[in-house]
Amino acid sequence: MPAKKKTQKLLGVIGYPISHSLSPVFQNAAIKKLGLPLSYKAIKVKPQALGNFVRLAFQKKYLGFNVTIPHKEHIIKYLDLLTPMAKKMGAVNTVKIEKNGKLIGHNTDGLGYLESLKKECHFNPKGKLVVLLGAGGAAKAIATALGNASCKKVLIANRNKNRAPLLAQQMKKNFPRTQWETCFLKNIPSSFWSKTHLLVNATSMGMKNIPLVPLPLETLHPHCIVSDIVYHPLQTSLLKKAKTYGLKIHPGWGMLLYQGALSFTYWTNKKSPLATMKKNLLAALKTSS
Ligand SMILES: NC(=O)c1ccc[n+]([C@@H]2O[C@H](COP(=O)([O-])OP(=O)(O)OC[C@H]3O[C@@H](n4cnc5c(N)ncnc54)[C@H](OP(=O)(O)O)[C@@H]3O)[C@@H](O)[C@H]2O)c1
Repeated sequence: MPAKKKTQKLLGVIGYPISHSLSPVFQNAAIKKLGLPLSYKAIKVKPQALGNFVRLAFQKKYLGFNVTIPHKEHIIKYLDLLTPMAKKMGAVNTVKIEKNGKLIGHNTDGLGYLESLKKECHFNPKGKLVVLLGAGGAAKAIATALGNASCKKVLIANRNKNRAPLLAQQMKKNFPRTQWETCFLKNIPSSFWSKTHLLVNATSMGMKNIPLVPLPLETLHPHCIVSDIVYHPLQTSLLKKAKTYGLKIHPGWGMLLYQGALSFTYWTNKKSPLATMKKNLLAALKTSS
């Protein structure tokens, strides 16, 4: 008797807008590499259509999907369960659909960021000092992962003066063993700056048309890692400047790749083919940069 062909299941990323997403490039490369009966696509879901999409996802044979702007928080009300990480962040970037149709919300953004730092720069945040620029959604994901990994102290520096204290307050509640401080983006205390082990840009500064505020990179500790989560352009002005001072850099494609790799494993229970995913993502980024 001929072998029964496995039913093709779906994966994807939902957002609005979504046409810019590079996730299909590297997720489909991973699917092909492992020969899985899956396909991954970018799906435009307007805010008013979110509930309907989620309700029909099981019926439409989705195994799971990624979630991006503007749905990461709104989707929670449609899910059956959250992982502890998603609960702490109050945001979901990965949904897995169980065989019984139950929807589980997870978040791999912060974990992916740390995994990338570990694999690409051999950095472990335990006991370290970090300057985190930004207090938006990405900064929150990174702060949560840093707290979860027992970072010693995080200074959150933001342009809007009210947002950083709000984030720090939430982090203090979730991770009281990490020290959380805040300051204005243009007023980072030099005493902390010169001792920090990691500087992370989690703002939109460095994207096309959004200039970087002046930062005295020359006074950072020579072993400080400069990390930028902006990946478009591939070499941001922050990374270029850090390189001129001989500082170790960590580019933004790392977070994108590793959060996707963790989602892939979460859905499929298989080790992600990282080398294949990285090759395809970098090729796509080079073409679009
Ligand atoms: N590598 C990855 O996988 C990855 C993942 C997620 C996001 N990102 C990138 O991270 C960046 C932030 O994303 P998000 O989701 O956190 O956005 P968000 O929630 O809108 O937050 C934006 C952050 O950037 C700050 N900001 C915006 N324009 C600024 C400017 N001109 N000067 C100084 N600060 C400015 C905001 O400060 P205020 O509070 O003062 O407005 C806020 O802290 C984006 O560039 C995004 O593409 C990368």
